[in-house]
Amino acid sequence: MNQEASTAAPQDRIVSILEQGAAEPGGLLPSLHAIQDATGFIPEECIANIARAFNLSQAEVHGVITFYHDFRTTPPAKHAVRICRAEACQSMGAEKLLAHAVQALGCGLHEKTPDGMFSLEPVYCLGHCACSPAIMLDGAMHARVTPERFDQLVASVKEGT
Ligand code: FES
Repeated sequence: MNQEASTAAPQDRIVSILEQGAAEPGGLLPSLHAIQDATGFIPEECIANIARAFNLSQAEVHGVITFYHDFRTTPPAKHAVRICRAEACQSMGAEKLLAHAVQALGCGLHEKTPDGMFSLEPVYCLGHCACSPAIMLDGAMHARVTPERFDQLVASVKEGT
């Protein structure tokens, strides 16, 4: 990203991203990622412009955005919780931990808490299989997480907010 692009207003930045992306074969996904990186999400009001840039229908663009769980059309939660659901973590209680997280946070997978404080997403291996179950909270790794430890981590994040 060049300096000019990184300081541009979000709408100008999106226009620039779409101009560049439309000129590249297979440019839709990189453009969607770039828009989300620039603005934190893909605003619904941009979908018509994206569709026009790539000569697609709005339904097709929407289909791509909703197919990939990494894309979001609303602002992200303040804190991101990712729970590993891969094999090693599953064998060490990840599903129980996930059920606890759903109850403790009050939101399901791929959702945000009603106050917008937390989002809950699955991941499939965080590279800490020997210390399962593992989670990531705001990019920080936590290993051997019990439901009690999960509550402590969430409480510490809330206190720091
Ligand atoms: S399986 Fe969970 S960290 Fe590898």
